[in-house]
Parts: sequence; C-alpha cells; structure tokens
Amino acid sequence: MEPTDAPALSDDALARALPAPRRLVVVSNRLPFVARPAGRGWAFERTVGGLVTGIESFVRSGKGPPEVVWVGWPGRAVPASRAASLRSEARARHGLVPVLLPSEVAEGYYDGLCNRALWPLLHSEPTAVHLEEPWWDAYRTANEAFRDAVLGELRDGDLVWVHDFHLMTLPALLREVRPDVALAWFLHVPFPAYEILRVLPDAWTRALLEGVLGADVVGLHTHDYARHFLRAVRRVLGADAAAGRLDVAGRPVRVDAFPLGVDFARHDEAAQRPEVVAERARLQAAFGDARVVLSVDRLDPTKGILQRLAAYERLLERRPDLHGRVVLALVGVPSREDVDAYRRLRARVEETVGRVNGRFGRFGWVPVHAQMRAVGPDELAALYLVADVALVTPLRDGMNLVAKEFLATRHDGEGVLVLSDTAGAARELGEALLVNPYHPAGVADALERALGTAPEARRAASEPMRERLRRYDAARWGSEQVEAVAAVRQEGRRLEARFATTADLSAIVARSSAARRRVLLLDYDGTLVPLVESPRAAAPDAALRGLLRGLAAVPDTTVVVVSGRDATTLSTWLGDLPVELVAEHGAQRRPVGGAWTDLASRDTAWHASVRPVLDVFADRLPGALVEAKTFGLAWHHRAADPELGPLRARELVETLEGLRLPPHLRVARGRDLVEVRPAAVTKAAALPALDDPTGTFLLAVGDDATDEDLFAALPPQGLAIRVGTADSRAALHVRDVGDVRRLLARLVAAGAAEGVP
Ligand code: ADP
Ligand code: F6P
Repeated sequence: MEPTDAPALSDDALARALPAPRRLVVVSNRLPFVARPAGRGWAFERTVGGLVTGIESFVRSGKGPPEVVWVGWPGRAVPASRAASLRSEARARHGLVPVLLPSEVAEGYYDGLCNRALWPLLHSEPTAVHLEEPWWDAYRTANEAFRDAVLGELRDGDLVWVHDFHLMTLPALLREVRPDVALAWFLHVPFPAYEILRVLPDAWTRALLEGVLGADVVGLHTHDYARHFLRAVRRVLGADAAAGRLDVAGRPVRVDAFPLGVDFARHDEAAQRPEVVAERARLQAAFGDARVVLSVDRLDPTKGILQRLAAYERLLERRPDLHGRVVLALVGVPSREDVDAYRRLRARVEETVGRVNGRFGRFGWVPVHAQMRAVGPDELAALYLVADVALVTPLRDGMNLVAKEFLATRHDGEGVLVLSDTAGAARELGEALLVNPYHPAGVADALERALGTAPEARRAASEPMRERLRRYDAARWGSEQVEAVAAVRQEGRRLEARFATTADLSAIVARSSAARRRVLLLDYDGTLVPLVESPRAAAPDAALRGLLRGLAAVPDTTVVVVSGRDATTLSTWLGDLPVELVAEHGAQRRPVGGAWTDLASRDTAWHASVRPVLDVFADRLPGALVEAKTFGLAWHHRAADPELGPLRARELVETLEGLRLPPHLRVARGRDLVEVRPAAVTKAAALPALDDPTGTFLLAVGDDATDEDLFAALPPQGLAIRVGTADSRAALHVRDVGDVRRLLARLVAAGAAEGVP
C-alpha cells in the first residue's frame, strides 16, 4: 500500500459525475428491533442505543437513497423451525433482514469478543479486556454469516453501509467477492491510541484493520479517532495516508471524521407535541419545585454512572442548603445483561442509589429518582424539558447522543450541559461545562456552577452549540458519507483508468515482436522485486533470474537493469546474467560480462564530512542504517519505527541542507531513505545510443521518482510504464511487481514463439 499522491478532484465535482445509489443496505449487529416470539408470530421491541438512533434519524430525513433495507442480528437465537416466519415478518413489517447466528457463535462473537474484548479495548480500558481464541473464531464466523446475508440481498447500484466494531472484517469479506461494491464502514465507538490497541494479538489487529480497509470510506466520529486509526494502519500495515487517503492495492480509501448528529428539527419541536406537554406536566408535578439534574444512559461501565453518583453525593455533602431543593433523575436502561460486568454494574447502581437516598433522603424528598428501564420518546423529551442540568459524564464515549438530544430539545436554550471531556461530543460542544468524569469533586464543582448559572448565561452557552447541531445533524452525517463513497469510487475509476488493460499489454507485446530490436530498461527494487525491510534482503529469486535470462535470449534484445544499488551488489546478484547493469542511478555502467565504467566523476572527498552525520542519525534510530556506495551515501530507515523514520528523515534532510554541501551534490528523499549523491547523475544516463531508433522497441519500467528522470529522457517512440498509481510521465501504469513480471514473461514467450525476429 502506498500513499495516493494523485491530486484528488473536489468531492463535489466527482460526486456529480456518478449516479446516486438506488438503495441503501444498512448492516449492523443490532437491528432497530429485538424479535421476541409471540404466540405463533413475533413481537418486535425497539432497541436502545446511539447506532440505531443515528441510522434511523438519517433514514427518516429522506436525504439518503430512496430505498433502505437493514441487515442485522435479531438479538437472540432463533430455532430453525421458526426462522422462516421471522424472516418473512421482519421483512414485511420493518424491511429487516435478520442474520441468524447459532447461540454458541453469538455468545463467542457478541458476549465474548465484542463485549468483553473489543468494547473495553476501544474504550481504552485494557485491564477489562479478555482474550479467548474461540471468541475470535466466532467473530470471524459471524462476520462470514453477515457476508452471506448481504450477498444474498445485494443488487447492482446498492450502497452497503456497514456499522461498528462488531463487523470490522466484513468490508474486506464483501470486497473479496464483489470487488466493485460501493461500501462505507462507520465506527460508533472511539478508536483508541495505538499503545492501547497493542493489547490485541497482532494477527487479530491486522485482520481487523485489513477488514475495515475493504470499504471505500472509513468513518469515525472525531478527527482524533481518525488520526488514531491512520496511525494504527501505518504501524501495523505499514501504509501511509496522504490527506486522509490510503492506497489499498491501487484502490483509494478515504478515512475521515463524520460526527454523528441528531434529528435536530424533531427534538427542537418536541415541546409542542401534546403527548410531551402532558408528560412534562406530570413530571413537573412529581418533582415539584426541586431543581432537576438528569442522567440518562444504557447501564454500561463506560458511562461512568457510579462516578456520577459519587459526584452527586459529594454535592449533597457540601451543600446542605440544596437538600430538598434538588433531585437527580436517573434513567438507566439495562444493557448486555449476559455479561457479568454489566449485571454487576446494575446491582451496584441500585445499591448506591439506595444508599444515597437512605443517607440524605427525608419524608417528602427523595434525592435520587432512579428507573432501570427504557423510556419512550415522549417521556424522554419531557425529561429533557424539565431538567435544569443534564449530567452526561461517560468515562469514555464515541460520541454521546444524549448530550446532543438534550440541547436540541431545549429550544429555550436554558438547559445546562455538564459533559465529559472524554466524550466525542465534547469536540463539538465546547461551550458546555466540560469535566473529568473520574474526579467526583471536579464534577461536583461543575454541578454547583451549573445550578447557579443565570438564564442569560445558559442561553449564551447553549445557542452556538444548538446552531452547530442544527447544521451538522444526522441527515448531514449520513449524506456526507454517501457522497464520500461516490467521490472515492470516482477517484478509483480515474486511477483504474491509468492501469494498462489487457489490450494495452497485448499491444506492447505485439510492438515488441514486430520491432527489429528491443531495449528494455528495468529498475530493480519495487519493479523487479518487491520492497523489503532490509536492502540486503532483496536478492533476485530464481524466477526473476530465469526471466531476465529469457528476455536476454530473445534475439536482438538488450536488457539493462537500471538501479540505485551500488556496482558491487549488482555484480554479485546479477553479474553472471547476460544483462547490462547501471548502478547508483546512472553513475556507473557495465556491459554484459564486461567491466564497470564510471559515467560521473569519482569524487568522494565529501563522504568524510557527510558520513558522520548519517551515522549519528542511524545511531539514534534503531533499524536505520547507512549504505556507502562508490559515489553516493544512503541512509535507510525502512526497518525502523514507521513513525519515527520519516520524522528523522526530515530532520536529516534539514541538517544536511544546513551543512551547505558543495553545489555538485544533491540531497534526495527516496522511499524510506535519504540519499546524497552527485547532482549530475540521473538514470537518464542509462539510455543507450540507438543505431536504429525507428526499428527499436524501447521500454522503460520503474516505480519511483528516480525513474522519472529516465522516462523524461526517452525519445518519442519509447514507452514508459510506472508501477503504482503515483502521478508520472509514464503513459501506462501497472499495479505491482507481479504485473511487471507477467508482462516480461509474455515478452519472453512471444520472442520464443515467434522466433523473433
Ligand atoms: P450509546 O450508543 O452508547 O448507547 P448514545 O448516548 O450515543 O450512547 O445513544 C443513546 C441513545 O439511546 C440515545 O438516542 C438515547 O436517547 C437513547 N437512550 C439512552 N438511554 C435511554 C433510556 N433509558 N430510555 C430510552 N432511550 C434511551
Ligand atoms: O454505539 C455502540 C453500540 O455497540 C451500538 O452498536 C449500540 O448502539 C449500542 O452500543 C448498544 O449496544 P448493544 O447493541 O450491544 O446493546
């Protein structure tokens, strides 16, 4: 994988050029309903969570494709005898396609890998992570079941939108079978720093990242998560992004932040719905004159509910004057109850609520009103409306929609939001009272401030946040991803069009066969052999040696290997083959079986002053090494830390530039190296004088900037081929070393078959 350095067209221009997708295939672990057997049929109960809220809001907005189908797990094991009835009812009533998982797969995949390994890991709680091999197997099996369900559903023109950490390997599984599928993946939870991610076995991390990169667009809630994701990709897969674009085997992938928003208009208008008005009156009567602090979440250890209760308790300790005048309304919907940590949390929350009420309560005043259940949308809106303060203090949260729903519902702008700095939402809601959720005294301070904020100050803080939520709502979150997929696919087509087609390759072979002479100028690393960590490990394999021998055996054919390598290495590796060699980017040349001659002046006096600098930089970076060539000096960092390497390379270039080297020298950055060499030396020196220019088939193949010098020097009838998608003077591109070798093999075969000439 290499950075895409082709200039990207503007997303708008590209998106316009493509037909909009006709149907959206949403794929998530969780469907918007849990199916429960009811008599001979099924009852569908709404599920609670940000994922379902977000997707439903987008779908309801009508800003996406006109048709939607939702593929997901119905939340329970379904006996084979009832599968058909569930499938037909789910599709007919809700447009849902259930993915049925055997209970042992669901347990390993959902309760195990998803909830006991990935969830705590992604929320930066490594000590809560459990790793079991069978869970990983179940995760893969479940993702394959999702793949089969999606493939069974897929039609041309569909956009597949895969969601969350449950389905990280699914995008690549789908791409394998349907290379052209339009595909986005969105992560609803945080993506942690690489140091946390390392808790997972390497092979799993690699599979998860490679899986995700099967998508055209990888969406995360915030720029921080996107940065963490790209850093993990760089460290684990060795792939670098340019401006958020990765090149995955010639296919562009965009990684970007798409913060999930809410259905702003719906929340903003909620206060007018008669059902909400009635509910609000009921709640106001229940709470009387007391100020209301609201806490609403799933009962999840990451939500910081116990720490929140501790902060409220701290407030009551400090402020006896608030006794009887404040209540905490705590709504916690039970979640993932098959996992011990979740069951224990529920018990501890109930116990703590009881203790606080026992400690401070009195007849006529209950300090904490707690309900362990889901509330309906009208009751929730009414709660948002009667609350003076929303206390949203997750220990870590991908986004947190409760905070956004509260502000959107408070059309009067008078709700005060106390929000964890560690929630993704804090990136957009900077005017809230931001707190450290682990610090009860700090949260209690914020609560005091919140309760004491005057109405004008509440409105002043709330308005800019509401404006942001209005502009970047759930509809925009979804439609930006739909547009991004179109743009990336368009860019992919543009890059694809650069690659030589089968017809192009056949035409090249035909031209070669028809010519009286052939001259083939072939770069070595990255063209004839793949790039490897240690420069010494790139010795030619038997297949390559056979290929070069075969090419050279085609009558009237000259093969020149044009490399940045030094003469000694080239002689050792290729010296016995009937090919010409050009070393150090054109500084030396060796005819077949002959002796090396210099093409540049051999002045290496400058090595004495430059070498020590390179040595210091190599000593400071484990894995880096200095290569002294006959003419130039190279500092390699391919085997070093993938993040530090480029950083130190930049510093090295600056240091060398500061040395004011003689003007005949040039400092150049190559792939994972910095090189100092005579400026006059370029690969163009490899071009031989042609005695029969029109009758000669002249082909140059290379993979990096140094090969461009040769391409530029080719006469008009010469043909250049560049490996990879980077911008180039070359008329044609091929994907990789394999493509180059296949082309060369065809030239050999054509030479042999037709007895060329
Ligand atoms: P998560 O996705 O981790 O559950 P979010 O805050 O992003 O967290 O989203 C939670 C969603 O579920 C919101 O739309 C919120 O209104 C809803 N929700 C949370 N708790 C309850 C509850 N007790 N009753 C009803 N809806 C709830
Ligand atoms: O947001 C993360 C997530 O896992 C979502 O998939 C879902 O909205 C929410 O948490 C609830 O979790 P579950 O689907 O495991 O009940």
